[in-house]
Amino acid sequence: MNDPYYYNLRRRPRRLRATAAIRESVRETRLSREQLIQPHFVLDGNGIEERIDSMPGIARQSIDRLLATVGSDLEAGVRSIILFGVPEGGKDASGSSSADENALIPRAVRELKKRFANDVVVYCDICLCAYTDHGHCGILHGGLILNDPSLQHLAAQALACAHAGADFVAPSDMMDGRVGAIRDALDAEGFVNTGLMAYSAKYASAYYGPFREAAHCAPASGDRKTYQMDPRNAREALRECALDEEEGADIIMIKPALAYLDIISNVRARTSLPVAAYNVSGEYSMVKAAAAAGWLDERAAAMENLYAIARAGADLILTYHARDACKNRWI
Ligand code: PBG
Ligand code: ZN
Repeated sequence: MNDPYYYNLRRRPRRLRATAAIRESVRETRLSREQLIQPHFVLDGNGIEERIDSMPGIARQSIDRLLATVGSDLEAGVRSIILFGVPEGGKDASGSSSADENALIPRAVRELKKRFANDVVVYCDICLCAYTDHGHCGILHGGLILNDPSLQHLAAQALACAHAGADFVAPSDMMDGRVGAIRDALDAEGFVNTGLMAYSAKYASAYYGPFREAAHCAPASGDRKTYQMDPRNAREALRECALDEEEGADIIMIKPALAYLDIISNVRARTSLPVAAYNVSGEYSMVKAAAAAGWLDERAAAMENLYAIARAGADLILTYHARDACKNRWI
């Protein structure tokens, strides 16, 4: 070709981007509805639905409303859910109400399993912070979070959820040894088939802000930096994940997701277990707020984020976008 505007390029990557059909055929990352896990905030009472200002589209719901929501989500293909309890009262120093077999979350699990059986995969977040009067994820004594004394309380909460029929318990407290302690407690009671998804690399993140408002679980004093990980550390995440794998975790989770794609990718390369990532409240709120202001396209931004998390290596994604993505057929 003699046209001065044409170079003699043999390699032209743009050929693979020429049409939508070609782009679809060579896409490297696929995402399906089965990979998404929708979080839910559960309240006591009946007919209650409280919007969460910082998380448009997400609400705190009483069990009856939760059942209705999960039913309609199931029809859209949202098959996995994770439950967070938002108890009104009954908080004490050790979060003992969470171990009650008739506590909020065990009741919710029983109702869900009665209605939907194994059509829905139920994960229960296991932590003390929503049930303690001080709001920390472990036992607080003399200004310190005591590790080992916290384990039995976490195990008791996990047992109550397993009894109720949870498919997976998901400890989010970051105490050392809790995966092993919970696994042992489940096995000792015969719950050998209850799965364990560990929040293995959970960072002390500013992106949990909206969640703490939603779940009323901000610590009354201090912060969570003596148990959640330092955002500057990457190798430490590999140690945390290796420990949880040794202690019996079935699924390893990284949290948050978007600021930690390098962690997801490194962990993916080092474990053969399924890897989950938590696209947390602050990550969701940023997209919703910017979209509401007209500053970015919600669908495009949310899907770009979810694909980035999957591309980094996550098999499962916990995300508040799950319902919108499935109902609006974004995937
Ligand atoms: C509590 C818990 C938190 C989240 C999940 N479980 C908050 C925290 O650790 O302070 C955050 C989830 C989100 O931001 O979406 N252990
Ligand atoms: Zn907690």
